[in-house]
Amino acid sequence: MNKANWSMKLVAHLFVALFVLLGGTNVVQTATAAEQVIVNANQWKDTSGNPIQAHAGGMFKEGGYYYWIGVERNFDTDWTFKQINMYRSTDLKNWDYVNTILTQNSSPDLNWCKIERPKIIYNAATSQYVLWMHYEEGSNYNLAQAAVAVSSSIDGNYTFLSHSRPLNTYMSRDATLFKDDDGTAYFISSANGNADMNIYRLTSDYLNIDALVATLWPGSYREAPAMIKRNGYYYLLTSGATGWSYNQAKYAYSTNIASGWSSLSSIGSPSTYESQGNYIIPVIGTNETSYLYMADRHAGAFGEHFNYGKYVWHELQFNSNTNVSMSWYPKIAINAATGEIHKVTQNVDTGLVIKKDFGMENTFLSISYDGEYPYMSTIISAESTWIKEDVDGTYFRLKQKRTGKYLYNDPAADNKVSLVDPTWNGPNVQWKLVDAGGGYARLEHRSSGMWLRSYPYGAGLSLVDTSNTGNHTKWLVQ
Ligand code: DGJ
Repeated sequence: MNKANWSMKLVAHLFVALFVLLGGTNVVQTATAAEQVIVNANQWKDTSGNPIQAHAGGMFKEGGYYYWIGVERNFDTDWTFKQINMYRSTDLKNWDYVNTILTQNSSPDLNWCKIERPKIIYNAATSQYVLWMHYEEGSNYNLAQAAVAVSSSIDGNYTFLSHSRPLNTYMSRDATLFKDDDGTAYFISSANGNADMNIYRLTSDYLNIDALVATLWPGSYREAPAMIKRNGYYYLLTSGATGWSYNQAKYAYSTNIASGWSSLSSIGSPSTYESQGNYIIPVIGTNETSYLYMADRHAGAFGEHFNYGKYVWHELQFNSNTNVSMSWYPKIAINAATGEIHKVTQNVDTGLVIKKDFGMENTFLSISYDGEYPYMSTIISAESTWIKEDVDGTYFRLKQKRTGKYLYNDPAADNKVSLVDPTWNGPNVQWKLVDAGGGYARLEHRSSGMWLRSYPYGAGLSLVDTSNTGNHTKWLVQ
């Protein structure tokens, strides 16, 4: 590097340091360069700016890259399978779109079907990447089958091989894969009308089911299995079976994959922070290995199309080998190099906040620095502090301290609440307070006449009509 470049780089670093000192970022003061912050419960964008379509997905680590795969569906009445997309990242935050690894045109059997919960493992003996998934015909969930596809490269176009019930016998819906330390691989899926959870050993090429090795918790109706192994313990995380709606995640453990499983223990909140798990990825770094719970906030739970689903990621806390917990954090910071997952828990600003105290601890209306991702923060940062600018004694604008931009909604576009440059100062950025009793107020948007609404766990920030008189539209502006 020549001297001019070097001094430019120094100036850039000083600028970044100053920016951080001034509270320009919501990461607490200890943030490091390699640390990346994720705003939970949003549909993140890839590095090209497109919404990530990797729902009900899985992750695979190879070389320095994490590969994230997941499903995108068609906008037809049955929400049929369109494709499985693959993204890759070194830091678990910045995702490059890599390839569409399987599409509805990859096989005639995929033309009109549902594919859910794809997962990949690598077979060292055959040098093949093996993709397993849940398979149904287009309009219902009656087939209850598993399907398999292969590729000789991680990001290749996968060849669809077959779909059937395991051992041509067992119903099979929500599913996952697990590869053990000795290379033995397992397919785990909800069986018997989702009442039971079956663990099957795969054949040595991973292309077929070899044997049923365990049936767990018969009659318990568990879905969304995700398995890891840590300290010689296998852990299986599952959800309840309530369609697209949320329910209580539970975990169990055993030192033998085929027997001795514990009973189910609850983890997270009763709604699992409005999410359903899809995978647990170990983040193996220089300092530690963390375990990241990856989950979907299904759009179907809000009556929206599948492709608008959001992502919820949390660290699993191992309090002991037999006790695992998980907490809600609106933002988490992941350091893929060190393996540390750092929760953003420290207030870094003071000022006017737009607060909710229903349902959980105090949370504060926040919008990520780029205006993209609304969230309800549990800390007060420059993303959640606002300056009230009076317009006419009744209406006012809310200027975010972090960006200097206004809280905004364009009713002609969609009901997404975001930020806009302060040159926009008309009715789309104007709000008034409507008394809601008990010290609470509604925030009424001038151009639409609608009220601001949010739910506790993350996003869901939108405008709703004034028939929505519940707590979700009540705020404390203080
Ligand atoms: C819950 C399952 O976990 C999802 O994968 C999906 O199959 C939905 N049910 C469909 O209602």
